[in-house]
Amino acid sequence: METPMKYGISITKNPNPKAKPDPASLGFGDVFTDHMFILDYDEGEGWHDARIEPYAPICLDPAAAVFHYAQEMFEGLKAYRTVDGGLKLFRPDMNAKRTTRTSDRLCIPRIDEGFYVDAMRALIDVDRDWAPDYDGTSLYIRPFVIATEPFLGVRPSRQYKFIIIISPVGPYYKGGLAPTRIFVEDEYTRAALGGTGYAKIGGNYAASLKSQMKAHALGFTQVLWLDGAERKYVEEIGTSNAFFVMDGEVLTAPLGGTILPGVTRDSVLTLLDGWGVPVKEERFTIEEVFDSYDAGELSEVFASGTAAVISPVGELRWKDRSMVINDGKIGDLSQRLYDGITGIQSGRLPDTYGWTVDL
Ligand code: COI
Repeated sequence: METPMKYGISITKNPNPKAKPDPASLGFGDVFTDHMFILDYDEGEGWHDARIEPYAPICLDPAAAVFHYAQEMFEGLKAYRTVDGGLKLFRPDMNAKRTTRTSDRLCIPRIDEGFYVDAMRALIDVDRDWAPDYDGTSLYIRPFVIATEPFLGVRPSRQYKFIIIISPVGPYYKGGLAPTRIFVEDEYTRAALGGTGYAKIGGNYAASLKSQMKAHALGFTQVLWLDGAERKYVEEIGTSNAFFVMDGEVLTAPLGGTILPGVTRDSVLTLLDGWGVPVKEERFTIEEVFDSYDAGELSEVFASGTAAVISPVGELRWKDRSMVINDGKIGDLSQRLYDGITGIQSGRLPDTYGWTVDL
């Protein structure tokens, strides 16, 4: 059944809505809501035919460029139930801006940033009953663009689909906020200068799987990536940005092209600045981290990302050197940041920075 256009988007309601999952047992990314958003692109016509449809498999030509040359990008952000029963989206403008930068890097035609946010809002509105109301849960919004032209020559596709799907989620890591065990990867690397490290593309994640499997086989949760040139400088942890508290100062790698400009990373830096905590965005080596630990100056390590928000690191292993951080317990600053960010997301704390958008 077609209903009137909203934000220029036609809506076809799902006649067979699914049963909603138990919010207390939600994992990450394995349940999807009843609807999806689709926008098509054809060269010469531009982006067109915005629509919300019942969630269903999509039909693509086996020659579609995405299957062969990985011309694909994605985003991830969350909508949270608030303490007063409302629903808020966290910093969607940041994802829209990053989408533009990623699109430019992959020669994908730009999507208007305002429309990008409107499309998410319209889809969430249709599926708002799916928003779980349980501590640590949210709606994870996954916008992505795929190249759909059936053509095997190597050049930018002339056809695309921009799709948004939604997954009600619980914690990203099974252990929730329990500190992770991290293995420093000194064989494979994630990103090189001039490459795609700063862009949110599936290819970066595909290339990281080998290391993730290696870490799992050794009993670790994730890997810490070193720079692609010298395998010396600290870059990221798994799919997240990495922070080290050394001698009372917070260190994180600078955004120099190889680091993903995380929305949570930016939120962490803004909160720390507001709290008067000294922060440095500069290159530092894994050797310096271990030396700082040996000198008794390393008090906390944590990762930040949309999926896990703040993820404390309890143990770090590099070659034959190993460290247990803060006795394997979550540190004060990690806890304060987790409480600060989730407090704003859930409406428990005032949104002084204007980060949330009411839905
Ligand atoms: C994030 O936490 O920001 C991520 O990108 C994780 C996602 C790839 C599952």
